[in-house]
Amino acid sequence: MRKPIIAGNWKLHKTVEESRQLIKALAEGLKDVTDVEIVVAPVFTSLESVVAAAKGSPIAIAAQNCYPAPSGAFTGEVSPALLKDVGCIGAIVGHSERRQLFGESNAFINNKVQALLAADLRAIFCIGETLDERESGRMYDILTMQVKEGLAGLTPEQMAKVVVAYEPVWAIGTGKTASNEEAEEAHAFIRGLLQGNFNEKVAENTPILYGGSVKPGNVDGLMAQEDIDGVLVGGASLVAEDFIRIVRFERTEPAQH
Ligand code: 13P
Repeated sequence: MRKPIIAGNWKLHKTVEESRQLIKALAEGLKDVTDVEIVVAPVFTSLESVVAAAKGSPIAIAAQNCYPAPSGAFTGEVSPALLKDVGCIGAIVGHSERRQLFGESNAFINNKVQALLAADLRAIFCIGETLDERESGRMYDILTMQVKEGLAGLTPEQMAKVVVAYEPVWAIGTGKTASNEEAEEAHAFIRGLLQGNFNEKVAENTPILYGGSVKPGNVDGLMAQEDIDGVLVGGASLVAEDFIRIVRFERTEPAQH
């Protein structure tokens, strides 16, 4: 059984003080949770404070990005080693906002995944199609390439540190979630890709999160899907009450397929 993972991506929001207030509220509201892995990803400048404030709680802290080199002349960048140094468990990589706004390629994202794993950190590896790619029937080709190139060169053993997040770009920040069925269909497809690129065990063990307008009102249905192992939450992760409710999703038996 894959343990559910509920992750919050705070994106470019909150000062250090605001971040500290939010993590304190989450730590208090989630202190008894043991059956879900909880991760939040604040901005770089808040990482150290949030790690300190989350100590003793079940919440782990990740970064939203990293640069694929341990150190060097890379002005403005932050390495996995430095993220580890402040107590992060890993980083989100390949988010569609970075692919679209900063032109990140599958190859560059692959370097980041490799760098995180080399530092013994976890990679929350994001993939997903745009609306145009979905509507023009290229969705499966896009997902296939993102997985093949983004996870190229990894061994099945290294995949134990990788979490895949499927985030259809058209569902991010739009209030338009994929239906439970659309999300499950994509997740099942991605699990098949993991089997093809690695093996049955990797496909079985790798958590695949859904992201894109996840809210308290739709999390239960999404989490009931067989191949949805967790969620990556943007907007709703900035509101303590909402994120707590999402972590405390209602469990039902997985739908049969
Ligand atoms: P929203 O939940 O705001 O749609 O954002 C999803 C996301 O991009 C998480 O990484």
